[in-house]
Amino acid sequence: MTTPTWDDLPTAVRARLENDLAPTGPAAPVAGGFTPGVRVQLPTDEGAVFIKAIRSGSGAADMYRAEAAANQVLPAGIGPQLLISFESDGWVVLAFDFLPGHHPDLTPGSSDLQPVIDAISRLHTPLTPCPLTSAPEIITNPVLHEADHQQFTGDALLHCDLRADNLLIAEDGQIGVIDWAWPHRGPAWVDTAFLVPQLILAGHTAHDAEKWAGQVPAYQLADDTAINAFATALTSYWVSRAAQGSPELRAYRARALDAGRTWVSHRSATSHR
Ligand SMILES: Nc1ncnc2c1ncn2[C@@H]1O[C@H](COP(=O)(O)OP(=O)(O)O)[C@@H](O)[C@H]1O
Ligand SMILES: [Mg+2]
Repeated sequence: MTTPTWDDLPTAVRARLENDLAPTGPAAPVAGGFTPGVRVQLPTDEGAVFIKAIRSGSGAADMYRAEAAANQVLPAGIGPQLLISFESDGWVVLAFDFLPGHHPDLTPGSSDLQPVIDAISRLHTPLTPCPLTSAPEIITNPVLHEADHQQFTGDALLHCDLRADNLLIAEDGQIGVIDWAWPHRGPAWVDTAFLVPQLILAGHTAHDAEKWAGQVPAYQLADDTAINAFATALTSYWVSRAAQGSPELRAYRARALDAGRTWVSHRSATSHR
């Protein structure tokens, strides 16, 4: 399937965006992303705007709706400001301030690692108690479907997809957390746990990935058996999804599965019991 562009949006949707945002030039495509949606930026007198939109009937439309709901309650400063969100003419549409910057390089030795870990350490303080009343409990996340509820109680708003492409480092060094499409309620350490296999995927040993994660106070204080349960559940989830999706997604899932297995065997071989 080809990715839709600005011109694929219905005239009424484009007219509403043009009316609300007063663009000063044409829409330009924005690269990246994993959902089959429109991703463009529009210039305006107040700076560029990032727009993402997806067909209401698409399998990912609920993620866009969840992202809109989460951004309506996110405190300022966590990610780019949501300017508009609406559903009309068969499309779910979100518009944010465009955040110029780069995705962090998570490879060993990168100078982006420390700022990312520091940002994750601060992330959940303003997100506790969970400001999103509709956020489902983390235990209902398909990743954890067989896990023990008792190990995953907490009242933070969780992102559940912290990876390099959902983080942007702005020119002033501030880190924006974007793509809140999978919000859940649970213990703050879970978001760091989602990052650990991403660090392994980026080339860290499991030992070094754990060392970075261990700088995050919530992760350091988490119960080791709960982290073990999470690592095992996430790896089983990737096993269950390994054969699904596009060839690119399958290739990514195969690498993620390897990273998960590396993490699980490291934890069972060390004192993380
Ligand atoms: N507010 C923003 N400002 C600048 N670039 C953005 C912004 N939001 C997203 N992007 C870019 O677009 C990409 C896709 O956006 P994202 O919200 O992650 O979509 P998807 O749901 O498809 O993963 C991001 O990885 C990032 O590079
Ligand atoms: Mg994304």
